[in-house]
Amino acid sequence: MDGNGRWAQQRGLPRLAGHEAGSRSIERCVQACLDTGVEFLTLYAFSSENWKRPAAEVSGLMLLLEKFLNQKRDEMVREGIRLRHIGRIQELPPPCQRKLREVMDATAQNSRLTLVLALSYSGRTEIVDAVKSIARDAAAGNLAEDAITPELIDSRLNTAGMPDPDLLIRTSGEMRISNFLLWQLSYTEIHVTKKFWPDFQKEDFLAALADFQSRSRRYGGVETQTEANA
Ligand code: IPE
Ligand code: MG
Repeated sequence: MDGNGRWAQQRGLPRLAGHEAGSRSIERCVQACLDTGVEFLTLYAFSSENWKRPAAEVSGLMLLLEKFLNQKRDEMVREGIRLRHIGRIQELPPPCQRKLREVMDATAQNSRLTLVLALSYSGRTEIVDAVKSIARDAAAGNLAEDAITPELIDSRLNTAGMPDPDLLIRTSGEMRISNFLLWQLSYTEIHVTKKFWPDFQKEDFLAALADFQSRSRRYGGVETQTEANA
């Protein structure tokens, strides 16, 4: 999600007001997923690089995360939403970690929508961690070279067991991946909107889905009659 800071700046508000407004866009997107039957929604909420921001902004974001989880816990349980995470959450403040674990545990049996929060996440770091775990097994003599396949690598990533994303929505007009799900996005369709994240409404989500539906996905092959815009 991007553009919270610029949204606030346009209104002469502090950046944290933009992040607060952005958290309401999360509510709208989650509802849009429930309404349309989307089963996985991954939000790039805080990157490994975001730790470089001023301490007051970082702690404000962490408090906002805690507040969001406190407010949404019961609704998630009730609506069949499962909370999961990717990223090094051990780097988050302990109260945030505790709240996350509490809500992840409370919703572990749900399956209608899996809401994945990327927190202290970096695609390159995730790949480095996967390579290290493979190297450890190989060095111990537990993994043959031929057993190193794309599926094995999938299984060592934070996203193990989750499908690759079909659609990536990027707000605020940025035309870059910014270290997000580098391995998993290989064949993901990309939709870029100029809207800042706090301005992102249900109709923008539906427009992104319609854009996705208009794409012909060939995965490097050629289009066949039956696949065309199915
Ligand atoms: C939200 O938008 C991203 C978070 C880290 C929460 P930004 O804070 O990056 O907003 P801009 O890019 O400065 O407008
Ligand atoms: Mg930004």
